[in-house]
Amino acid sequence: MTTESVRPETPGAPVLREPPLAGGGVPLLGHGWKLVRDPLAFMSRLRDDGDVVRLRLGPKTVYAVTTPALTGAVALSPDYIIAGPLWESLESLLGKEGVATANGPLHRRQRRTIQPAFKLEAIPAYGPIMTEEAYALVERWRSGRVLDVTAESFRVAVRVATRCLMRGSYMDARTERICADLATLFSGMYQRMVVPLGPLYKVPLPANREFNRALADLHLLVDEIVADRRASGQKPDDLLTALLEAKDENGEPIGEQEIHDQVIAIITPGSETIGATIMSLLLVLAEHPELGGKIRDEVETVVGDRPVAFDDVRKLTYTANVVTETLRLYPAVWILTRRAVTETELGGYRIPRGADLIYSPYAVQRDHRSYGRHEEFDPDRWLPERVKDVPKYAMSPFSVGNRKCPSDHFSMAELTLLTAVVASAYRFEQVSGSDARPRIGITLRPRRLMLRALPR
Ligand code: HEM
Repeated sequence: MTTESVRPETPGAPVLREPPLAGGGVPLLGHGWKLVRDPLAFMSRLRDDGDVVRLRLGPKTVYAVTTPALTGAVALSPDYIIAGPLWESLESLLGKEGVATANGPLHRRQRRTIQPAFKLEAIPAYGPIMTEEAYALVERWRSGRVLDVTAESFRVAVRVATRCLMRGSYMDARTERICADLATLFSGMYQRMVVPLGPLYKVPLPANREFNRALADLHLLVDEIVADRRASGQKPDDLLTALLEAKDENGEPIGEQEIHDQVIAIITPGSETIGATIMSLLLVLAEHPELGGKIRDEVETVVGDRPVAFDDVRKLTYTANVVTETLRLYPAVWILTRRAVTETELGGYRIPRGADLIYSPYAVQRDHRSYGRHEEFDPDRWLPERVKDVPKYAMSPFSVGNRKCPSDHFSMAELTLLTAVVASAYRFEQVSGSDARPRIGITLRPRRLMLRALPR
């Protein structure tokens, strides 16, 4: 590790230090091989080297931010924008005009357009769909067959997101297609991010052809959905109507490309993150059967014999704490990147203009400096009397600041309801062929989880 002082660009400004170089780099590849081989362990160890550390990824220097306070500072500062390698790898899917990739005034306008669909008061209207989908899973799993949890989790995630946010019967037939396309795209994008072979992905090999077919089909689906909604003449109070009626800064309707990119930029993160988290929740229920028993007891006390309803969710505090603890140990968004638009100071270190920064909610949320028995699954750490011990920004699975996930309330409601319903109905056990090791892609989830649902 080396630490150097750096002369400031502006005369008279304080002398800032160069962040130390992280240990363990190798010639040529720098730290890249560690980031590819065991990214979770690598990111989790970086705080031992400093609050901000330099990584060498091939010829490039990237700044890793390791403390809760400084990751919060990065997320809250306007000096760091959405850009960098993670976002570039997502661009073929998300486009350039959607809320997840836009910056500056365009991003602020887009957030204003989508926010009403996610605000706290809007969520109860989604309750009947969330409840229906949760009980549909209980029915589907009644046969006792082995569950391919990846397919089951992503399917329900896509169904809830699309049925709530783009209402209409025309969605029913299309959700299955969206699920299949997204599954192909997410595994392909992961490969493109960690093994960036550029032009080789254009070679017409079967895997590349399948990726391109899924990408084209998803874009086609979105165009069909928009066209069908317009043709129906209906304007339900949902996100799609908000997008179709949105105006730009001159009061003109927003362009077709922007509507298209917005739909993709909302469905895609909405499905991928929730799908990954449902997988992690089912793994947790299989690994800690006592949690399911306690959830069932809570549901019996709060709800009794009738089906769980959306209004019950805020009273299901133990179940919600199981969801929160799952998001702590298995944050679907395990890595985030930003780019500095100007030279900045971070924790006494100089960050040059144009620098790429990375930080890991996974590493921050498992740090022993922030959590006692940090690797242990303990939902009670979220009880009101204990939660105050958690340092600020040490638990931000939905991020903070202007890029904070718009869907935090929506997601917590959906995940709590679903967990209450399925854990009251079933115990889960892993079957042979299941591989629960983490699959580290754009999101984090169990690799290939196969479970049997045993009625309680
Ligand atoms: C952004 C996490 C569910 C839509 C984000 C970000 C995080 C996150 C960490 C911030 C990214 C950054 O700072 O660079 C999660 C988790 C979820 C979840 C853990 C579920 C467990 C959803 C759902 C939707 C959604 C259900 C939509 C239906 C979005 C969008 C953004 C975003 C549109 C971009 C916001 C912006 O850049 O202004 N999410 N998310 N997310 N999320 Fe979520």
